[in-house]
Amino acid sequence: MSLDIRTVTASAYPDWLRAVQNGFLTAGSPDEEHVAERLADTDLSRVQGVFEAGRCVATFRSFAQELTVVGGATVASDAITGVTVAPTHRRRGLLSRMMATDLAAARERGEVVATLIAAEYPIYGRYGFGPAAWTAEWEVSVHRAGLDPRRSGQPEGGGRVELVDGADVRKYGPELHARLAARRPGIVSRSERWWKLHTGAAATYPAHDKWTEPFYAIHRDADGEVDGLLVYGTDDRWGDANQPLNTATVRDLIALTPAAERALWHFLCSVDWVTTVRSGYRAPDDLLPLLLPDPRAARPVTYSDWLWLRLLDVPRALEARTYGSEASLVLDVRDGGGVAEGRFLLDASAAGARCTPTTRSADLALGAGELAALYLGDESVRRLVDLGRVEELRSGAAARADAAFRTGRRPWCPDIF
Ligand SMILES: CC(C)(COP(=O)(O)OP(=O)(O)OC[C@H]1O[C@@H](n2cnc3c(N)ncnc32)[C@H](O)[C@@H]1OP(=O)(O)O)[C@@H](O)C(=O)NCCC(=O)NCCS
Repeated sequence: MSLDIRTVTASAYPDWLRAVQNGFLTAGSPDEEHVAERLADTDLSRVQGVFEAGRCVATFRSFAQELTVVGGATVASDAITGVTVAPTHRRRGLLSRMMATDLAAARERGEVVATLIAAEYPIYGRYGFGPAAWTAEWEVSVHRAGLDPRRSGQPEGGGRVELVDGADVRKYGPELHARLAARRPGIVSRSERWWKLHTGAAATYPAHDKWTEPFYAIHRDADGEVDGLLVYGTDDRWGDANQPLNTATVRDLIALTPAAERALWHFLCSVDWVTTVRSGYRAPDDLLPLLLPDPRAARPVTYSDWLWLRLLDVPRALEARTYGSEASLVLDVRDGGGVAEGRFLLDASAAGARCTPTTRSADLALGAGELAALYLGDESVRRLVDLGRVEELRSGAAARADAAFRTGRRPWCPDIF
């Protein structure tokens, strides 16, 4: 039977959504309400499906996103999601074909990078993606942590924590998030629907766990300005001897200042009945473990690659960010003939950069995936050289590149998409 790869129409969309759901191992079909809600929020021109005898057997979607890069600027990103191929049709090149179509269209639209969260590490490197931001998750045994619960209601610097409701989060959250995005590399934009979905104001997608109402808290600074937000769920668990054994799981914790961030962790670790705090996906260098008097009370439960990135336009991407030191570097980027291939002269400084094609001899030779892993400042050039994945063609080039590319704090993408 022939396979028809095409852009999905509104009439084929319910079957496409069923295929996504099944591809992510959720049986059944989404109901009409979900289909209508998703459809209203979907640019169908960016939805691809593969159909066989009228049935969708593979899916792929992208949407417009903004990604914060080092220095606080944002670049237009082609965010990829909903990637599935039915188990009956795997390893016949369907993902490769849909990816090629999408990346070519993204490049045509002028998008600077493509982003995704990978279900499995080995899938996307072949398409020029590299892991650009990692994540870590901890489980805190709050009674061992050593925080003083009497201080949780009186955050340092005169701030205060307030319990609020979902409507308040929809009111304060977008601006707070936009301000955070202007300072933290790796943050991706959130749509209005994102805020609705995460505060119960929109039906949730059935492939995810059923949504339950969480608790919401904000932090205000000494002037009363909202500078932090915490969303967490609890599980109402009690032990055999009738002792409270609740786990509070963070769904969102964003803050504009370290003081607000510390105050929100302190608050959560001090909620009565909560004996365990699960952090949710944080940056690997999150303040959390070290802000506890006993950091070993925070047991690492996840450490993983998270945001994968692919450069679609090397000069624009490298010119969008700032650098830790002045450096002039010639990068030979190998991309299997793809859009990032070429030799580029990067003149980098703390104020920005100029990046142009060049014929000069190269300082470093690297693949598109390696450049992506370095782009947000997370990976070390030295480490990639030692792994045999970057070639240092001029002595000292790795150290100069590290001084320019790397950042004091690691990038962080708090969202899954
Ligand atoms: C991941 C998935 C979309 C791949 O689709 P596919 O059509 O089988 O991929 P392709 O046939 O285009 O594969 C291209 C290459 O990638 C490799 N590849 C694909 N998926 C891989 C995986 N999970 N692990 C290792 N290699 C993988 C293939 O072996 C093939 O290699 P080759 O070119 O050397 O032969 C599919 O397996 C799937 O739907 N998995 C479950 C859902 C999922 O994980 N989706 C990704 C969400 S981020």
